[in-house]
Amino acid sequence: MNAVLKAIEERSSTRGYTDEKLTQEELDTLIRAGLQAPTAANRQEIHFTVLDGDNPLLAELQEAMLADRGAAEKPAHNFYYEAPTVMLISGDAANPWSSLDAGIAVENIALAAEGMGLGSLIIGCVKGALLGEKEAYFAKAFRFPEGYRYCIAVALGHKAVTKTPHTYDEAKSVTRL
Ligand SMILES: Cc1cc2nc3c(=O)[nH]c(=O)nc-3n(C[C@H](O)[C@H](O)[C@H](O)COP(=O)(O)O)c2cc1C
Repeated sequence: MNAVLKAIEERSSTRGYTDEKLTQEELDTLIRAGLQAPTAANRQEIHFTVLDGDNPLLAELQEAMLADRGAAEKPAHNFYYEAPTVMLISGDAANPWSSLDAGIAVENIALAAEGMGLGSLIIGCVKGALLGEKEAYFAKAFRFPEGYRYCIAVALGHKAVTKTPHTYDEAKSVTRL
């Protein structure tokens, strides 16, 4: 099967990772996949903050997310399922296309990861914490460019668990005229 179609068909969310870190080459390839994504008017304004999973800032974000949600109990996993690498994608708040650009980039990264035999998880659940009252603090800590806001995140690493891709209902979702 065509390699791109195979990655699209076989990608699914990975919610469990081994301890194995990504190599520099793997990380560079994944970052490149994000940078190669199309952006509206080719502005290329989205920004990628790349962190190791053990970066204390991620633990701080986890706590802020739980506080934001008013979670009574500590969940079994953190928001990125202990993946060895996390990328936060931010975009210019003044650019109305930044969320869409970031979404396209994150899927490029997820498909590249699948094609490389790696797992990925697209992450939206930290939105409340990153855009809430501590927005300025986190934007500075994660070194978002001036005027940028969090759009989406992605966890990356070697799969410790597998999941079958989601099913879908073409009749409900597609109108062929
Ligand atoms: C915009 C967006 C945000 C998401 N946020 C989360 C998240 O915060 N936590 C999570 O576990 N999965 C998250 N997901 C993954 C979805 O739950 C997942 O893609 C969906 O259930 C379909 O499963 P699949 O990816 O295995 O095909 C997100 C996906 C998207 C596209």
